[in-house]
Amino acid sequence: MDMVECATLHNGQRIPLVALGTSRISSENLELTIKRALDMGYRHIDTAFFYGNERAIGKALQEYVNSTNLRRNEVYITTKLYPAYMRGHAVGPVLDESLRRLRLDYVDLYLIHTPCGIKELDTYPETPPPKLESVSVDLRETWKVMEEAVYNGKARSIGVSNFNSKQLNYICETARIQPVINQVEAHARLPQKKLQEFCKSRNILLEAFCPLGSPNFAGSAELNHVQSSDNLVENLLIMDIAQKYGRTPGQILLRNLLQRGMIVIPKSENPKRMRENIEIFSFTLSDEDMKKIDELENGERRFVVNWWKDHPDYPFHEEF
Ligand SMILES: NC(=O)c1ccc[n+]([C@@H]2O[C@H](COP(=O)([O-])OP(=O)(O)OC[C@H]3O[C@@H](n4cnc5c(N)ncnc54)[C@H](OP(=O)(O)O)[C@@H]3O)[C@@H](O)[C@H]2O)c1
Repeated sequence: MDMVECATLHNGQRIPLVALGTSRISSENLELTIKRALDMGYRHIDTAFFYGNERAIGKALQEYVNSTNLRRNEVYITTKLYPAYMRGHAVGPVLDESLRRLRLDYVDLYLIHTPCGIKELDTYPETPPPKLESVSVDLRETWKVMEEAVYNGKARSIGVSNFNSKQLNYICETARIQPVINQVEAHARLPQKKLQEFCKSRNILLEAFCPLGSPNFAGSAELNHVQSSDNLVENLLIMDIAQKYGRTPGQILLRNLLQRGMIVIPKSENPKRMRENIEIFSFTLSDEDMKKIDELENGERRFVVNWWKDHPDYPFHEEF
């Protein structure tokens, strides 16, 4: 079994390079999948208030820690700020709610889920509505309270998700604590080279969501997934390379991102594929094969939330 390796963030903290993505894990499978993942050696779980699954993850994690030798501080937990609570006064209380649901005193990483704010809710619904009225929030105001979460020990690190370079610059210019991570869609079709270069210059790591290109996702009214006929795990080039290394296409796609210095967040609730997705540390793709994968780039973004598109802070009008 491969040991999941870690990266070191600019604040010196260590972060496992593979996380289990948990959005869209079916609710009936969730607790079992979390425990299974921990059994397999996953040490990083990616969730969000928006996914409505923090409660089940918290329960599974607590039961696992109580019944095994694993300690809480050996598992890296990431959750995210839902965009209805981005105003300064709302950030602290909703983090407290996430911590209650997760049964934790702190999260390892707290991310602003998106730069696109929505109208504040006065309750904490179990499953937040995916769309409400768009509101532009001053991201520096949000970031200031994210920093408080580090000072008061409720988040060990803080970062962002779905931010473009200008939005990152905007918060970085006045930040007392610089973001450690930008979690964005990244895969062989959308390798995010310019954004990665920019983030590198600021010591910010990229975390790749949809790292397999999110195969089989049918989309929904609120999400506009590109219905691409080229499923990356069935791509001929990727399949060829997989055969050459005696690996699966999924492993090749993940290894490619890992070798490019990214953290990957594959979602799977299938035990065989879950195992595959962490068995990516004991082989190396040659420079030649990395270059061949580079040629698959076409800029195709698969994860576009429909209501974001008209939002004043929509991040993807910028080139990167
Ligand atoms: N920050 C954000 O805005 C944001 C947005 C989207 C996603 N995310 C995070 O990123 C995670 C992953 O994104 P995603 O679920 O859209 O995309 P993904 O991980 O690229 O793809 C998941 C799909 O691939 C299948 N799969 C998993 N491993 C496989 C393998 N080795 N070979 C072939 N198929 C495989 C899964 O099915 P099975 O389960 O049947 O294996 C599932 O249908 C999410 O769960 C979430 O935590 C964050």
